[in-house]
This record gives sequence, structure tokens and C-alpha cells, in this order.
Amino acid sequence: MTKKRVLFGMVAVLLVAAMLLTACGKPKEAKLGGKLEIFSWWTAGGEAEGLNAMFKIYAAKHPDVEIINATVAGGAGMNAKAVLATRMQANDPPDSFQVHAGHELIDSWVKAEKMEPITFIFKDNGWMGKYPQGVIDVLSYKGEIWSVPVNIHRANILWYNKQVFTANGVTPPNSFDEFFAAADKLKAAGITPLALGDNGIWASVHLFETVLIGTLGPDKYRGLWNGTTDWNGAEVKAALETFARMMQYVNEDHAALSWDQAAKLVADGRAGMTIMGDWAEGWFKSIGQKPNVEFGWVPAPGTKGTFDMLSDSFGLPKGAPNRAAAIAWLVVCGSKEGQDAFNPLKGSIPARTDGDRALYDEYLKSAMDDFASNQIVPSLAHGAAASEGWSTAVSNAMTLFVSDLNVAAAQSAMAKACVDAGVCK
Ligand code: GAL
Repeated sequence: MTKKRVLFGMVAVLLVAAMLLTACGKPKEAKLGGKLEIFSWWTAGGEAEGLNAMFKIYAAKHPDVEIINATVAGGAGMNAKAVLATRMQANDPPDSFQVHAGHELIDSWVKAEKMEPITFIFKDNGWMGKYPQGVIDVLSYKGEIWSVPVNIHRANILWYNKQVFTANGVTPPNSFDEFFAAADKLKAAGITPLALGDNGIWASVHLFETVLIGTLGPDKYRGLWNGTTDWNGAEVKAALETFARMMQYVNEDHAALSWDQAAKLVADGRAGMTIMGDWAEGWFKSIGQKPNVEFGWVPAPGTKGTFDMLSDSFGLPKGAPNRAAAIAWLVVCGSKEGQDAFNPLKGSIPARTDGDRALYDEYLKSAMDDFASNQIVPSLAHGAAASEGWSTAVSNAMTLFVSDLNVAAAQSAMAKACVDAGVCK
């Protein structure tokens, strides 16, 4: 064969290959199939509907994937987190799981090298400019992003029954003094002033963190978590005293109820108020109540101008059994479509900055405005402010405090927890 012929032959082969490739288009993405296990603690009204709305979007995009809705009931992940820890230690992760942005994500799972970085998902989907930098920062460690935030929740809200307030001549309280004046009126009328459901101690920690913010203000509250505010100081003592006083106004069976059962006391008019995160808004709506019709809201006493923040996110554990389907899940979680389907039901605002405001109700619009203008502080009870070990130590102190209301003992236990966490001297 002459050189010319060989060359001609090669060119012909290349041409045919190129034609074939053009005919078939780009190599197709493999179709997703198999099971996708999504682990969370979203079982109550509002949160369950929100999760389902995201599942629906996923199912429409990937009809051959079977979604396994793996939930472990218990507010704030009080049971789910323990189940997850056991599974992660046994290298048996779900495909993706709910985790709070901040310390819960980074200290518990990222530093333990149990997660895959997912910065590539943000880049591939053009999300880098779509989230506030502050949110990206709490999801980041060593230059990588480690989970996809689905929302922003606000923890410091006092929800009240409008009809009960009107009937008893009570106006929404802004300060602790106003709160106790309202509580006295309700008590005199035979109505439980403050509904609490702390069958998981987190709900008392949650209430207490709002009292801390209301007493110390945002700067000193932040200082509790970086060692610049003294846990042995007069203001922490005052906050513990205020909390102890509040406990005189809660339902007797608080230790037997969950957060949503406490919200139900308010919805039914058996209690006037409850202090809870805005997932309670999702819950009120799930039973057909409407913001500013049946229920109203104000920032928890003393916390106007401060947004006590937490964020639910989903990550990609190393060894996810169906990694490709899990990545597709994270794409739904981080998309505008996913967030605008989830959040109006969940009672949270999108973590993205381009959510469609028209889809959000009056309360949620106010949360959007406050998130944009308020001082932002991290929630303790929901994984943002302190490491898991530290927040467990505070929870243990609260378990004792709720039953004995011993301010001095609680304060020294909390001060010790900060030292043990290596943050205070
Ligand atoms: C929080 C979580 C919320 C909501 C709440 C009650 O920790 O961030 O999304 O689920 O617990 O379970």
C-alpha cells in the first residue's frame, strides 16, 4: 500500500467516526434508576408536606428512581441524629441526609471525613452567585462547600392565638415586662400563657436561647460562642432567672408534649403563646390556619431586630449507595424550583436570593425582609452556634434546670461547658 492510500484510509475512518458521533449527539447521561434514600426528621405537618413537594419534583425528573423517605420522628432531630450517627459509624450512610448548616455539619461530619465536598454541584449549576456569602461561609470548610442549604429558618418567634389575645385584651408583647403582663392576664383567665413541648429538651434550650438573645442582645449573645462574653456574668444570670420565671406560666404537661403538640394548644385556644421556630408557621398552615387570621407573631421578647438563624441542608455522604441519584437530589434541593416548592409549606424562606416572593405568605415575606435587614445570630438548639458536644452539655444543664430551676447550678454548668468546649478559659 502506498503512503497516500494509508493516509486516505485513516482520514476516511476518522470521517466515519465523526459522522457517527454527530448522529448520536453527545454521549448521553446515564439514566438514573435504583433507590434513593433520603434521611430526615420531617414528620410533622408543614415539614412533611414541604419534603414531599421536593420529592414530587424529583420524581418528575427521574421517574425510574424509587425514593425512600427515611424519617425518624422527633423535633430538631432528637432521635434522628443518634440513628444517623450509628449508621455513619457503621459505614451504612443513606444517600443524603438532613443536617444543620454550621457546626453540626462541619464538626460532626466534615471534619470526621465522612462527607464528599460538593462545590462542584454549585459550580455546575451556576449557583455561586445565587446564595448569600454568609450562608456559603457556614457551609464551607477548607475551601470547599459541604452541603446544599434548602432554607433559612428563624428561631426567635413568639406565635400567639389572635382570638385569645383579642378576647382577653392582650396585645403582642415586645419586652419581657410586656410578656409577663400578658401572661398574668391569660393566667387569670384560666388559659395557659405559654405552651411548651419539651419532650425533647431541645425545645427548652430553644426557648432559653431566645431569652439569652433578648437579654444580652445580638453582640453579647454571639460572644457566648467565641469566648468574649462571660458565661458567669450578670446577664446570663438574669436570662436564667427570666427563663425560670417563664416556667411558672407553661403547661404542666410540657415534658410529655412535642413542639407541634404545644403549637396545637395555641391553635386550639387552650394556650395563648408559644415560642418556636417558624416551622410552627408551616404547622399552623398544615391544619388550615392562616397567618394574621387565626395566628399572629412577633419576635420573641427583647429580640426585635435580631434574626436567630438556622438552615437545613442536605449533603453527600462518602459511600452513598446511589451517588448519581443523590447528586440529582441535591440539584433539586438547591434549585429555585425546589426551594420555592419546599419553603412556602415548610414555613421557611429560601436560602437562595432569587426566590419568587409572590409565592410566600405575609409571615414569610416579613421573614425575608427581616433576614435582609436584621442582625443575624446563630441558633444553639439547631446546630449553628456550637459544636454537638458543647450543645449537648448545655442541653444536659437545661434538663436539670427545667426541673430544679436552680439558677446558680445551671449557670456554673453552662460556664463549664464553654471551658470544656475549649472556647472559654
Ligand atoms: C429543626 C429543623 C427544622 C424543623 C424543626 C422541628 O431542627 O431545622 O427544619 O424540622 O427542627 O423538627
